[in-house]
Parts: sequence; structure tokens; C-alpha cells
Amino acid sequence: MNVRYQLRCPEGVRMQRLGRSGIHAAGLRQEIYVDPADARLAEVLAALERENISEVEFYALAEARGGLALRETLRACLATLKQVQAISYAVQLDKKSIARILPLEPVIFTDRDVPDASPKRRLHPDIYFQPGRGEVHIHAPGASAEVVVDLPLAAQVMSAACDSAGSRPSVARRLLDEVFADTGHLASGELSAHRRAGWSFADLVFHSSSRLARRWGRFGRNLQAPIAVPGPQSPRPPVIPLTFPLPLMQQMDSPFRMVLAARRSQRRPGLQPLSLGELSSVLWLAAAPRHATHGIGGRYPYPSGGGIYGYRIYVLVHRCLDLLPGVYRYETEDCGLQPIAPPSSQFDSLLAHYGLALTLGDGKPDVMLVITADIEKFGSQYDGIAYRAMLLGAGCIIQNLGLAAATIGLAGCAVGGSRPTLFSEISGADLWREPSVADFALSGGEGR
Ligand SMILES: Cc1cc2nc3c(=O)[nH]c(=O)nc-3n(C[C@H](O)[C@H](O)[C@H](O)COP(=O)(O)O)c2cc1C
Repeated sequence: MNVRYQLRCPEGVRMQRLGRSGIHAAGLRQEIYVDPADARLAEVLAALERENISEVEFYALAEARGGLALRETLRACLATLKQVQAISYAVQLDKKSIARILPLEPVIFTDRDVPDASPKRRLHPDIYFQPGRGEVHIHAPGASAEVVVDLPLAAQVMSAACDSAGSRPSVARRLLDEVFADTGHLASGELSAHRRAGWSFADLVFHSSSRLARRWGRFGRNLQAPIAVPGPQSPRPPVIPLTFPLPLMQQMDSPFRMVLAARRSQRRPGLQPLSLGELSSVLWLAAAPRHATHGIGGRYPYPSGGGIYGYRIYVLVHRCLDLLPGVYRYETEDCGLQPIAPPSSQFDSLLAHYGLALTLGDGKPDVMLVITADIEKFGSQYDGIAYRAMLLGAGCIIQNLGLAAATIGLAGCAVGGSRPTLFSEISGADLWREPSVADFALSGGEGR
């Protein structure tokens, strides 16, 4: 038996040739232009449905035509096409497709032989099923792809997921287990990391889909016009005007009012880099605990549900006066920065991602502040609303950072989408126990 990942286009996706070797792809997530630098490779991409080529065979073709350099160019193109969901795979058994694979991350799927006596696989304990039209989409939190199968095969998988002692697995089911091993739909270890960290199923699905952006759908800002919703039919009661008594107005006429009025998102770094002094001041203003007085524990300048304060701030330094580039962790108790890792190619990719999210093109923010949360700490004190309480608290820190940056005249902006897996690899913060949950770009401002 053999697993073969035949390259296809997901339904509704179009790839058109532009010029000698360019490809315009309208993927499920967004439209993109790629150039594999070879006319034959572009021809294959534009006609994937007819070509009957697997990913491995496609790389072999690139290598035969232009050596390792062309293979690397193709790898980069395919990674981009996977990211915008312009590519899918068909897994075949006896020339019949038994599953569709929709990648959610730019992983490479490799054809291989399956031994007759392959080990028994255990499915991911939080695998879940989404009905489609005559088919079922199989997801798992953290999986690198979505697997789509027909109803009878989905029923077999569901039965195996419930550990029910059914009949012997069919050949298709055994082949699918191999696919699941590649896509991340299998259990890892005795007790998976997210189970140990105490995630509830609903929070896990929400986190994987919104934060890890692994769920099928568009990523980032939706530029389509919203659907017009008709206004209320019945007349509304008159609005009660707000009043501003003079004593309160005088109280409001404070520096705080001015800071609030001046706050705005500034994405572009100023000419002068951020300095260590400015970074320290923002961290101190926004997030440092004010020390215990009269035996009462330290207080933070932001609220946190249940007084849990299970957050950490990591500082990714791109350019900062008096501080070398690299990854640091803000240690609130020591009032200092703990060096974690020097810059690396992964570090550069992450900063480049943030630059794109901030519409800076090739530019990067001076510093990225990444907030992580101790999930066990929140889960041990709040059951059903743990994740929600944690996110609300993270939002309070983001607002503090924005106000602190505005106070000092720096450029600051929240960033919605991140690359949590990459961040976890760079920082060592565990993806499930200490996930990154919010991000803030900080740079030197104009005219300081
Ligand atoms: C949760 C959140 C996520 C955001 N993500 C981004 C982002 O990824 N890229 C970006 O350029 N701006 C981002 N922003 C900034 C908003 O675009 C900005 O707040 C909005 O346009 C209003 O502008 P103002 O903050 O200057 O009032 C984000 C803001 C928030 C609160």
C-alpha cells in the first residue's frame, strides 16, 4: 500500500498564468502572485487538475530542470500557495480518491509505502467533525491540515475516536491513519500537552481556530462589504443626553484626558530607534507591579480576572539603542529583561510577519511585545470562562501599552494575527501551557 499526495486545487480556486512563469492564484484565503521561475513548473501549477502529479514528483521535476536552487524556489512558491489555501491534495487508494487534504500550514506531504503491519494509531483525543455536503471535515487542534472524507469513512474514524471495538479497520481506514500521522490528527504521548494544561474543549477549538489561524477561512482583514441589516422597525425611545457636571469636567481636564485624546495606533517606526530607557518606561508604566504596602500583595496597573495575573511579556528586539537584537523576557519581580535567544532566521521570519501585519512592507517594528498566558493558572481558578477572562485581561495590558506609548510619544500598535508556533519555537514558551495570546508593536516615534 502506498500513500500518494496528488496535488490539486480546492474547489473554487483558480490559478492563471501571467507572463513567462508567473501565476496568479485566487486561493480560499486571499489572492496572490507567485513566480516559480520556470515555464514548465508554472504550466503544471496552472493545470493541476489534469497533471496528476504528487508533491514529491513536483519537487523532483523542479530539481531535474534547475537543480536544488529551482527546487527551493518551488518550495517557497508552494509554501505561499498553501498559506492562502490555493493548493489541496487528493489521497488515492487504487486510483480512487479516498480523502482530500486542505493544508493549514506550509508543511510538505511526502509519498511513501505503508508497511503491511503498521503500528496501531491512536487518534487525537480532541479530534472533531464538521458536516459538509455529503462529506465530513475532520479537524484536530494544532493539526497542520484539514482532512475531508465521505460519510462511511468518517463513520469509521468516529467509531475509532470513541474507542469502540468495531470490525477490523478497512484498507482505506488504515491508509487514512497514515495520513493522520502526517497531518497531526494523532495523539502524541501519554497525555497531550494541552490536556495537561487543562484546556476545555471549547476553548481549545476557539484558540486553535482564532489564534493559530488554522481553521478554514480567510485570515486577516475581510475586505468584502458587510451585508446590510435592516434597522429596527419600531420607533426607539428618545436618547437621554449625557451630562458633564463642572467638578467632574475639572477632574477630567487632567493629563490622563490628554493621553486618552492623543492615543492612536502608530505603525511606522520613527527615524530614531527606540531606546532601552523608552522600552523600560513603557513596560514599567503598563505592566510593572507596584510593590506591596502594609503587608498587602503587589498590585498591577491593569485588572486581571480573579487577580490571577498569569501573564508574561516577551520582548523581540529588532533595533533598540543600548540593547542587542534578540528575544528577552520581561521579569517583573527583578524589573529587568532576561535574555532568551539571539536572532535567528526564524526570528527574522516572525518579525517580517509582524511587519506585513502592520502594513510596513519590508519594514519591521523596532520591538514586538508578545504577551503569553499561564493557561493552567487561569484554568485552576476559573472553569468555563478561564480563556475568556484571560483574553479580556490581555486586552487590558494592550490598552495600557498603547496609553504608555502615547504618553512618551512613541509609535505603538496592537497586532491581531501572529505566528504562535514560530514564537513558541523561538522563545521556548510552551505552545499549550504558555501560549502567546496578544501582540503589541513598539517603535521610536516621530519628532521626539
Ligand atoms: C485587537 C487589535 C488588533 C489589531 N491588529 C492590527 C494589525 O494586525 N495591524 C494593524 O496595522 N493594526 C492593527 N490594529 C490597530 C487598529 O487597526 C486600530 O486600532 C484602528 O484602525 C483604529 O485606529 P486607532 O487605534 O488609531 O484609533 C489592531 C487593534 C486591535 C485593538
